[in-house]
Amino acid sequence: MLATHNIRLQFGGRTLFDDVNLKFTKGNCYGVIGANGAGKSTFIKILSGEIQSTGGSIEISPGERIAVLKQNHFAFEEEEVLTTVILGHSELVKIMREKEVLYAKENFTDADGERAAELEARFGELNGWEAESEAGALLAGLGIGTEMHSKKMKDLAGGEKVKVLLAQALFGKPEILLLDEPTNDLDLKAVQWLEKFIQGQEESTVLVVSHDRHFLNKVCTNICDIDFQKIKLFVGNYDFWYKSSQLAQRMLSDQNKKVEDKMKELKEFIQRFSANASKSSQATSRKKLLDKLTLEDIQPSTRKYPYVGFRQEREAGDQLLRVENLSLSIDGERMFHDLSFTVKKGQKIVFLAKSELATKALFQVLAGERQADSGGFSWGITTSRGYLPSDNGAFFQDASLDLINWLRQYSADQTETFLRGFLGRMLFSGEEAKKKSTVLSGGEKVRCMLSKLMLAGHNVLIFENPTNHLDLETITALNEGMIDFKGTLLFTSHDHEFIQTIASRVIELQSKGCRDEECTYDQFLGLE
Ligand SMILES: Nc1ncnc2c1ncn2[C@@H]1O[C@H](COP(=O)(O)OP(=O)(O)OP(=O)(O)O)[C@@H](O)[C@H]1O
Ligand SMILES: [Mg+2]
Repeated sequence: MLATHNIRLQFGGRTLFDDVNLKFTKGNCYGVIGANGAGKSTFIKILSGEIQSTGGSIEISPGERIAVLKQNHFAFEEEEVLTTVILGHSELVKIMREKEVLYAKENFTDADGERAAELEARFGELNGWEAESEAGALLAGLGIGTEMHSKKMKDLAGGEKVKVLLAQALFGKPEILLLDEPTNDLDLKAVQWLEKFIQGQEESTVLVVSHDRHFLNKVCTNICDIDFQKIKLFVGNYDFWYKSSQLAQRMLSDQNKKVEDKMKELKEFIQRFSANASKSSQATSRKKLLDKLTLEDIQPSTRKYPYVGFRQEREAGDQLLRVENLSLSIDGERMFHDLSFTVKKGQKIVFLAKSELATKALFQVLAGERQADSGGFSWGITTSRGYLPSDNGAFFQDASLDLINWLRQYSADQTETFLRGFLGRMLFSGEEAKKKSTVLSGGEKVRCMLSKLMLAGHNVLIFENPTNHLDLETITALNEGMIDFKGTLLFTSHDHEFIQTIASRVIELQSKGCRDEECTYDQFLGLE
């Protein structure tokens, strides 16, 4: 059991949440939802003890251990797979590293000997000698074979990476599992695998942050919504939370209706929804809770829509991109081979591949960040390209920059009003534009990257999984912005609706060449 008592969190003058009194119990999966920047990752960090709350306390049943899968899947890029898993047990790793340093010393003193003995004893207690085989067994259970153990994390596809990070979280058998946006970087098959995995965790308490409604509906027994500087728990899945919050919005706007009538409507809604619930036990418990529900308990959300619009400074000429016999292998694995295609002005092309390492590598080559093995490609001289990589970590290293100065680096017009205009569209206004670029949440970083791209006026955009980390409102705005864009677009995505509404051409990389069709995604999949 994990409980919070009067948790409050403030950053500078801004309160993210206060009076948080919640209890999370075994066998349940809690979906943590909220807009980008609402405080989901911060809440997870408070629960895991990574950061201190401004007030209040956390209670964990004695003997229980918490493990976390963090939102940033790129934190262990240079580590090997097996080491990454063992890193899940920080004390063990600390001991291993200290031992290594001690034994490497040339003048090993008596004091060193004593320290080494202490470390060895603790190492034994923690079952350190078994660490590698335990880590291997966990990986095997998740479908990662021994041939992958010595690969570096950066050479793994998104789905494999998340599996290794999950193994890391599971290493040391935690009772409480906190997963912060695990479905980012996962393709459909990997998401389905994760759904089954979470459904099977009947003996654990699971909290999972996600913006993916379908996924939340599949795995959650409860929803934990961060809004209005509060965190509230609701029984039921995402759809139920969503519909009740829509209903509340309607009721609030209907000022003429009497309170009794509103309550009546609420009750009817609950009845209907309970009848639809698949498990009757779930329906009963939901009904019990909902019977106590009052109008004040349900509030419409404060989610806001940003504005996304990409304007080309200059239209490109007809010669856009020609790719000829392009081939690339990484570590002996074929990414693409003998790939040829030409792009016409204004096309919106989605790229698919069995492994998304392949599409990522192709985009890196086209963006000039990686060399191909053979073949060539040429961009039209009138093109100006903007690239949104899925790992944006390198752009947010400088702690001295606030958001205005961060964006200023990429702008010809240096005036604050101009820069604030672009930040404002991405919902950073007033004091928010003055915060440090290094403290941004996952979605806020992507919003900053989008501001940078909007300002640049490129006529070609290359987007790698742009919806990762974004909340539903921002995804909707981005979706519209990409539909309206008059230039050329090359992108990847795991979001079916997103691809279907944007792409006019589909290129699927194959072991040799590609399948290339000018049609919608559904037509390509044979669904239409
Ligand atoms: N040290 C800090 N100082 C000031 N503000 C901070 C600090 N750390 C985080 N923030 C801000 O707190 C807010 C919450 O961040 P958090 O990462 O918890 O959001 P989130 O709900 O996980 O969002 P996302 O969906 O984008 O991942 C953000 O607006 C972030 O910029
Ligand atoms: Mg987050």
